[in-house]
Amino acid sequence: MEAIKGRRSVREFRDGRIPDDHLMTVLEAAIWAPSGSNAQPWEFVVVRSRDTIEKIKLFSPGLFGDPDALVVLCVNKERVKGRGPKELVAVMDIAMAAQNMMLAAYSLGIGSCPIASFNKTAVKELLNIPEHVDPILMVSLGYPEKWPEPPRRRPLEEVVHHEKY
Ligand SMILES: Cc1cc2nc3c(=O)[nH]c(=O)nc-3n(C[C@H](O)[C@H](O)[C@H](O)COP(=O)(O)O)c2cc1C
Repeated sequence: MEAIKGRRSVREFRDGRIPDDHLMTVLEAAIWAPSGSNAQPWEFVVVRSRDTIEKIKLFSPGLFGDPDALVVLCVNKERVKGRGPKELVAVMDIAMAAQNMMLAAYSLGIGSCPIASFNKTAVKELLNIPEHVDPILMVSLGYPEKWPEPPRRRPLEEVVHHEKY
């Protein structure tokens, strides 16, 4: 519960390089997420080049601050062949992997932010992502300038229904 409640979306980062083994731990947390039919449709593009991150910022209104690393979480569509619901499930799989990553990052003192607001076509082109692989979400990673105050949550009474809605 401490990690779940303490994790924040971090949008201001201080300088500091995440050690490679910590970055790998964050990625390992991702692949242990549950996935529909255990399809594990995910692929991860890890970007650490400052130059590339700056370019991505140009078409990513949701990307704030100067993170040390950026992970682009993608769905490999060849692993989720079929229509409609399977693609929706694949997006859920990506979300679960992202949350695992952000909790693991938090446990290592690394701040993160999920980013859905970016131009997928531009990211695909810049990072040489093939046609059958779709970028879905990015997660920025770096050491926080400060941990933000927690945004308000809707209280349990508002969102939980017992037995019937
Ligand atoms: C699917 C998804 C997409 C998001 N996209 C962005 C984004 O593009 N840019 C951003 O700064 N934050 C983004 N966020 C972060 C939310 O704004 C944040 O989770 C929310 O305000 C609650 O704050 P907290 O994460 O600190 O608890 C996204 C979160 C989710 C779950």
